[in-house]
Amino acid sequence: MNFRPAIFLISGFIYLFSFPVFSAQPEINQSAVASAHPTATSAGFEILGQGGNAFDAAVAVTATLAVVEPMGSGLGGGGFWLLHRASDGFQVMLDGREKAPAAATRDMYLDKQGAVIDGLSLNGALAAAIPGLPAALVHLASKYGKLPLRQSLQPAIRAAEKGFTVYPRYQKLLKFRLAHLNEAAKKVFLTDDNNIPAIGALIIQKDLAASLRRLAIGQRDGFYKGETAEKMLKAVSSAGGIWTQSDLDNYQVVERKPVIGDYHGAQIVSAALPSSGGIVLLEILNILSGFELDALTPTERKQKIIEAMRLAYKDRAEYLGDSDFIQLDQSRLISMAHADQLRAGITNKATPSDFLSETTPPEGQDTTHFSIIDDHGNRVSATLSINYPFGSALLAEGTGIVLNDEMDDFSASPGVENSYGLIGSSANAIEAGKRPLSSMTPSFIEKDGDVLVLGTPGGSRIITMVLIAALDFLHGNGELADWLAHGRFHHQYYPDVVQFEPGAISKAEQAELSLLGYELKERQSTYGNMHAVLFKSDGDLEAASDPRWLGKAEVRKVSSEDAATIVR
Ligand code: DON
Repeated sequence: MNFRPAIFLISGFIYLFSFPVFSAQPEINQSAVASAHPTATSAGFEILGQGGNAFDAAVAVTATLAVVEPMGSGLGGGGFWLLHRASDGFQVMLDGREKAPAAATRDMYLDKQGAVIDGLSLNGALAAAIPGLPAALVHLASKYGKLPLRQSLQPAIRAAEKGFTVYPRYQKLLKFRLAHLNEAAKKVFLTDDNNIPAIGALIIQKDLAASLRRLAIGQRDGFYKGETAEKMLKAVSSAGGIWTQSDLDNYQVVERKPVIGDYHGAQIVSAALPSSGGIVLLEILNILSGFELDALTPTERKQKIIEAMRLAYKDRAEYLGDSDFIQLDQSRLISMAHADQLRAGITNKATPSDFLSETTPPEGQDTTHFSIIDDHGNRVSATLSINYPFGSALLAEGTGIVLNDEMDDFSASPGVENSYGLIGSSANAIEAGKRPLSSMTPSFIEKDGDVLVLGTPGGSRIITMVLIAALDFLHGNGELADWLAHGRFHHQYYPDVVQFEPGAISKAEQAELSLLGYELKERQSTYGNMHAVLFKSDGDLEAASDPRWLGKAEVRKVSSEDAATIVR
């Protein structure tokens, strides 16, 4: 593939991008949408049916997920949208990650003795960073879409007004966060007598519909100023938070160059900082590219993959943070020379993480992901989050908006684990206006003309889930549905443990890995919720949703009937 440098002027900054130039567009007669909820997938097709492109559909799917999956993402949160424009091959990552408010300080979650105060970065107003998702929707629609925002937000507004029906994962995560919900959240999400609603009960969100409408009409100012802003600020300050109007005014979406690399001739395009996803994924693949994975026994293969995960997550802990705030030689980390050096230290058994350096250092079912390819070949891979299930559990009264608790993705203190057990260095320390380091890994992987668009929620395990599915694709191990179904395993440097889904590592492999020095932890339940679409070089499209949950993946020729789809 040829690469041609191009200069783009964005928000007053000059960005030098390289993007692949396509001589001819493949003919695709269909579009594919895979998301975590059937209503969101229908919303995508509805907007495609109205003449929208993948980017308009992404607006519709993002906003609808905010309504029907309120525990996973929303207007009070953020996300990353990886875009590929078919007409010129331009690729960019929209960074709508939340930012720490100006009054945030490095030690804001520590007590007088310097110990982290339990729960402060997870529950309530102090846990919430300044949301980026609404600004990203405005940017996505105006810069890349064909339809006005007010049109692509319609399916979400309708879904909020008509209500969605309660499903098991909603019940489960609501129960998990029940003790922390504020009164406003209880009014929206629980029954009148403060119980978990039954399966099939309707959750109607009139205030959220009104907030979406203000965004649709007022664009950026419809969220960051005026009624929505005032109500959020009131809710935050009365709950002891530190947001100000100028934090909202100062929020900016950033266009970032995706992390791009190569694995045996296949191209990997993935999330840039402030997500660690792309860098860690590439580091692992670079390390693995020096092994003949297909020639190894299943145990040997897993052992090499686990060691590569350990080493890349170590770099994550030591070096990574918001690139607007830290000096980092990213090209070194994703270079083959670095991978060669790391690979050289891998033996045939476990290397305890404690031996690697002197650094002291819930389940993943919320957050959300969707993948789209439209009939022109435009692509979107987007992972969106409010972090923990139902974010900070604080719903801003009168807005229907659940505020995130993304502040927990910062390293509250060097070496102290966050809720995903991740540790970090000063690179990811809290600073005013800084974005917390993420693991979200929306990705495109191109191999021999096939293109896989994928991603998943799952906290620190996101990157290794994307890795495992990517390796299946890159090594021709089954079909799309298999790549999403295969058992998952994970190592993140610390804790020095191999976690795995029930059955993902067979008893025999477990015995072999234990002998090699690995501590193994079979999780009680599965994790992740991956949604992927696949363009085949022959022009076919496929879509798949994680069999673990209720997502909906569909490929179809968009017709005028889609334009009239009634979103239930
Ligand atoms: O940005 C991150 O890495 C996390 N806030 C993502 C959280 C997540 O995936 C929750 N679990 N499913």
